[in-house]
Amino acid sequence: MATVSIENRGNIALVLVDNPPVNALSHSVREGLSNAMKACSNDDTIDAVVIACQGRTFIAGADIKEFATGPKAPHLPEVVQEIEDMQKPVVAAIHGTALGGGLEVALSCHYRVALESAKIGLPEVKLGILPGAGGTQRFPRIAGVENALDAILSGRHVKAKQALGWGALDELVADDLVEAAIAFAKGAISKGPRRTGAMEIDSSKYDQAFFDAFRKSIARRTRGYFAPEKCIQCIEAAVRLPLKEGLAFERAAIGECFVHPQSRALQHMFFAERQVSRIPGIGKETPRREIKKVGIIGAGTMGGGIAMNFANVGIPVTLLEIEQAALDKGLAVVRKNYERSAAKGKLSGDDVEKRMGLFNGTVSYDDLSDCDLIIEAVFETMDIKKKVFTSLDAVAKDGAILASNTSYLNIDEIAAVTKRPTDVLGLHFFSPANVMRLLEIVRADATAPDVLATCVDMAKAIGKVGVVAGVCPGFIGNRMLSPYGREASLCVIEGAKPEEVDAAMYGFGMAMGPLTVSDMAGLDIGYLNRKGMDRASYETKATDWYDRLVESGRKGLKVGAGVYDYDEGSRTPKPSAEVMAIIEEESARLGVERKPKTADEIIERCMLALINEGAKILGEGMAYRASDIDVVYVNGYGFPPYRGGPMHYADSLGLKNVYEKICSFADEFGPRWWEPAPLLKELAEAGQSFADYDKKQVG
Ligand code: CAA
Repeated sequence: MATVSIENRGNIALVLVDNPPVNALSHSVREGLSNAMKACSNDDTIDAVVIACQGRTFIAGADIKEFATGPKAPHLPEVVQEIEDMQKPVVAAIHGTALGGGLEVALSCHYRVALESAKIGLPEVKLGILPGAGGTQRFPRIAGVENALDAILSGRHVKAKQALGWGALDELVADDLVEAAIAFAKGAISKGPRRTGAMEIDSSKYDQAFFDAFRKSIARRTRGYFAPEKCIQCIEAAVRLPLKEGLAFERAAIGECFVHPQSRALQHMFFAERQVSRIPGIGKETPRREIKKVGIIGAGTMGGGIAMNFANVGIPVTLLEIEQAALDKGLAVVRKNYERSAAKGKLSGDDVEKRMGLFNGTVSYDDLSDCDLIIEAVFETMDIKKKVFTSLDAVAKDGAILASNTSYLNIDEIAAVTKRPTDVLGLHFFSPANVMRLLEIVRADATAPDVLATCVDMAKAIGKVGVVAGVCPGFIGNRMLSPYGREASLCVIEGAKPEEVDAAMYGFGMAMGPLTVSDMAGLDIGYLNRKGMDRASYETKATDWYDRLVESGRKGLKVGAGVYDYDEGSRTPKPSAEVMAIIEEESARLGVERKPKTADEIIERCMLALINEGAKILGEGMAYRASDIDVVYVNGYGFPPYRGGPMHYADSLGLKNVYEKICSFADEFGPRWWEPAPLLKELAEAGQSFADYDKKQVG
């Protein structure tokens, strides 16, 4: 069936795009739109045109799948120019989301009518590119320079009402969109075309200082990214140049973005996030259980944060604590979080009360008996978890899903204390649980497919990206963190200063350096864990100096002293002479001759350790795809999205190079920590990548 069709409605031509699922601008759509414009121009019975879409949305953008091969003619900039140049008025009828190239098509129309529920946006920056079909030139002309900078640099979806206020839409309707657009088109016949590209911008307001101030305002958020600066330059061009020259500038700029590795990495992340829900043995036909009520055990920071996710989407939550005082405290923290959002204007006072109204606090397990999903978020020891699950097993109704929020304990062992191990799985939220997007869904040996499927859907419903992991210590994320942290620490013992290691990793793009992260988490946590472990099971060279810090009272940020010093009330790390002295003593004690390290050496050690562990996880089947690991690291561990996650980064280095370097580390430092992952060896020797491996997996 043709993806673009024309229906004559009297003297109005209704051009309908039908390219499921999101009406992306694939070649057939571009060609169809171009042909439709020609046909409408040539048809004397037609006086105006409406462009509308079938299905769930207006055009949601270019077809991202075509980016890898490069689109064939007609290209989108030519098609939008053809629409704008039409001599008969063209009206866009927008429902769902008009995004990227879709909005550029709408902007090239002479008028725009939208459903009140519609949203518009130019999200290209999130894919490492820019609106390259005139979006950077037309959007500032119609919506104003400030609004264009906001929309194009954030890539956010703008609600129809706001877009109307900006002048980017002409009319909003509650329903009957196509009829309303046809009526609008009839009214526009006498007015004729109104071309966005012909609109003027008063350039006097937008001097160099204006753009420099804007650059400064987004510098933190766009650190390390290539495309944002290109977007700003294009908007500057829109202000300073006539349309034709501005469009040429935009063309050159998008070309630079397309060949930049960041655009490949960000597009990889786009598809990776959509792959995660494809699970072997789970399909549309797999039954789902209904989650109408959720129970959370533990009203601490984690439990309260987890509970908020459900209340936020209207699901009632029963929050259980052992003592009333702890429960009251937990509920007060939840309220404070909501009130903070209200103070920032993100919620109304009414919303706060509505969400709090969904909370039911209790100190009795019996009150969990009507919950469909119960998540425990109690202290992280196996004994306590087992006690909690034994109690849960006694009260939970048949068919309830029982989940542990453990970050590293064995879910099979926890499930075994219940009479219903098929209903048990891990749901590992990341702190702060109401903010962080990542959710590790841990599939235990006995977890039933419908339990897993329900939780995968649930993750999406509460706005998380849920990645399925297998049962192994630390699952995907924390298991990989361990060798990464080990190498960071060893770099310090071998000669780098803590601040040099952090600066190297921050420079690589990590949200924070690994030693700053340790201070934030609390050095005493690892210290206490190690006390229960055999010293032969971990790298003492990397941990003994941490132990000395903890033993001298330096437990991290919470006490104002850890790897770094902190001024009273400040979170800014400051190098500590006391810590440096301890490090130097430890190096001497271990007989290590301290030598300076370059940032590249530090990055290589930390990243290759991360990648090698990722490859082991993949080879053992603890993650279904390399891209799932990338999603975990980008969404839960501050890995720079523009590098596409550790496994994509490894592909960009070339697996042969990665493998050879790891082998050379094994020679230099011994094989104990640097034994190459068997899968890495196999792929490197076959000249393949992790992306090649993923192609052979489900989905
Ligand atoms: N190209 C190709 N496929 C796309 C796509 C696109 N632009 N947008 C969505 N899809 C696919 C998804 O991969 C997914 O496929 P599967 O079902 O096979 O996994 C399917 O459409 C549905 O997508 P979602 O699961 O994301 O559905 P949703 O309802 O949650 O969200 C959406 C819908 C808001 C449109 C969201 O898909 C989205 O944000 N898409 C990307 C929009 C975008 O970035 N557009 C700009 C593209 S770049 C551009 O346009 C620039 C240019 O001109 C050069």
